[in-house]
Amino acid sequence: MAVVPEIRPRCMIWLGQPTPRERELLAAAGWELRVIDDPRGARIGLRGGDRVAVLLDLRGAEPAWADAMRGLLGPHSDLPLMLLGGPREATRGEGLLQLREPLDLDQIQQLAQIVDGGCQDHGRAGTDCLVGNSAPMLAVRAALYKFAPVDLPVLVTGETGTGKELAARALHEMSSRRGRPFIAVNCGALPATLVQSELFGHEKGAFTGATARRIGLFEAADGGTIFLDEIGDLPLDAQTNLLRVLQEGTLERVGSHHTIRIDVRVVAATHVDLEEAVAQGRFREDLFYRLDVLRLHMPPLRERGDDVELLAKHFLAAFREQHRVRARGFDASARRQLRAHAWPGNVRELLNRVRRAAVVCESELIDAASLQLHESAAAAAVHGDGLDDVRVQAEREAILATLRESGFNVSECARRLRVSRVTVYRLCRKHQLELESLRT
Ligand SMILES: Nc1ncnc2c1ncn2[C@@H]1O[C@H](COP(=O)(O)OP(=O)(O)OP(=O)(O)O)[C@@H](O)[C@H]1O
Ligand SMILES: [Mg+2]
Repeated sequence: MAVVPEIRPRCMIWLGQPTPRERELLAAAGWELRVIDDPRGARIGLRGGDRVAVLLDLRGAEPAWADAMRGLLGPHSDLPLMLLGGPREATRGEGLLQLREPLDLDQIQQLAQIVDGGCQDHGRAGTDCLVGNSAPMLAVRAALYKFAPVDLPVLVTGETGTGKELAARALHEMSSRRGRPFIAVNCGALPATLVQSELFGHEKGAFTGATARRIGLFEAADGGTIFLDEIGDLPLDAQTNLLRVLQEGTLERVGSHHTIRIDVRVVAATHVDLEEAVAQGRFREDLFYRLDVLRLHMPPLRERGDDVELLAKHFLAAFREQHRVRARGFDASARRQLRAHAWPGNVRELLNRVRRAAVVCESELIDAASLQLHESAAAAAVHGDGLDDVRVQAEREAILATLRESGFNVSECARRLRVSRVTVYRLCRKHQLELESLRT
């Protein structure tokens, strides 16, 4: 009997006033709509299992509601948040998805993909999924949705620790190949003499030491996905065989002339520039074009804005599930440093720092020192890669000075800085400037 997956409601919490046409389109696309037209005194209630997105509609929003909005959204920073209307600069660096107005069917479908994405799926939250709501990560998720159902090779690029393997797994899980094997191979770690036999298998007696027939990783992945990590390290002769798998869907075990048909989707990853490897003759050009059909770029963590804190919280929560530790959150110094640090090791570095801090930290809130971020940020500044740090500090000083000059009047401050009021509120939030307390 076929198992019908349980379809949980898809819910849009609309902070503002949708037009009748927008209501109609959402309903047609199967969305349940909850409208909060005045945020003062409102709260967002979530039913377990709902797939939820929050849409902040700035078209008719009162500036005086900013604090209420912030209060309303604060506890729900893990929900995908979209912005409709309002000035463009309001979203810069904020990790919000800016939508065109009025909301049209295309965008509604895009939103459905985002909330349906495994990671925002509250039922499946865990370390297996890609955490992040920043604009670059929403773009990654949208690409995964597009790529998953098409049976073409995908080339995943990105710096070390950005989640290339995680994305490859997500792609497999979201495709019709889920339930079939996902096999990850680090091409750089295979001994050069054994690459062929590891990947394509060998017959008994094919070479000294081949005492029995062996099935290769490609055959083992039949029906599923093979993830070829560090593809740039694949020796040239194995590249030739891989090309054949991609072109013809067949392979031969080492020591055999018998052709075996296989059905494997190839996802390859690299953190070296493959184009350059091609130019230098270290990588076959024809193979490169076969692999680079769909490209998925994993953005560096330093470009993911608020995701850093979201990921830090996520990793701490996951660690707390396994271990008894006091730490249950991050203090202001930690949050500042999480933002300021350049994350050369990306998400993996963050994961390791959070785990370490959770162990060494004696108090309930992890501080910057436990994350070992004080020193490295200072050192980075000295060495010139702390530019971001310096910029952030300068930005904070500039906004604070202008706020003072404007008597902490947001409209006046916005006028002087030639930005919108929304931007002033955003900057205050970013730099932890509490308008209320500054005024007194
Ligand atoms: N968006 C994310 N959400 C949650 N965990 C993540 C995310 N991205 C990466 N991770 C975690 O960070 C670690 C590094 O990710 P992964 O191994 O996929 O990176 P990679 O790009 O393949 O790294 P490398 O280039 O070093 O092979 C893993 O533990 C992974 O689970
Ligand atoms: Mg990897």
